[in-house]
Amino acid sequence: MGARVSKLLLRIHPFRLVVPRARGHAPPLLVFLLLALVLLTSCTSESPYDAAVVSRGEELFAANCATCHGVGGEGQPDWHVTKADGTLPAPPLNGDGHTWHHGDGLLYRVVSKGGQEFEDPRFGSFKSAMPAFGDRLSHDEIVAVLTYVKSLWGDKTSRGISIVESQAFASEQDPFPPNGG
Ligand code: HEC
Repeated sequence: MGARVSKLLLRIHPFRLVVPRARGHAPPLLVFLLLALVLLTSCTSESPYDAAVVSRGEELFAANCATCHGVGGEGQPDWHVTKADGTLPAPPLNGDGHTWHHGDGLLYRVVSKGGQEFEDPRFGSFKSAMPAFGDRLSHDEIVAVLTYVKSLWGDKTSRGISIVESQAFASEQDPFPPNGG
């Protein structure tokens, strides 16, 4: 009985949504107001990151990271399948992987020291293909490249929670190291 009622509601619901719209054109003023609102919010919604740092990071990413992680940080196909040589393909950094689970401090250490630092004999033959950039990039450059990476996450969510906010929370416990530290 209950199931029949909800089936009926399901059928009626979209119908009722469609009918009023189909009856006439939306008044031009309404359309104009909506457009104005969209424009206004896109102008005022501020990125949490400094634009100059993000654009410096974008250049550094293109020059140092894109060969493996992809131009848009999309990673390599089958990135969680270990290759014959025991290494993993480069994972996505654009928010589709799990990069956002880590606070700024850990991300900094991965880029600075490379993945080898994190090799763990408990994972058997795991070998890291993530190079260390500590001798090639300065502190500020590593922060910039990671800020660019975080800017790729936009408003992606995981289980309804903003991944940017979630990662910012993790970073409170584990922030970027101070310059020279
Ligand atoms: C030679 C290929 C290669 C290059 C170049 C490279 N990476 Fe990686 N990166 C990897 C691989 C492979 C992993 C996966 C972890 C592992 O194998 O250690 C990884 C992991 C990472 C992780 C951890 C990701 C996560 O989800 O936990 C971050 C962050 C990262 N790389 C950032 C960078 C940045 C920033 C650059 C450029 C400065 C860069 N990588 C350049 C191959 C590369």
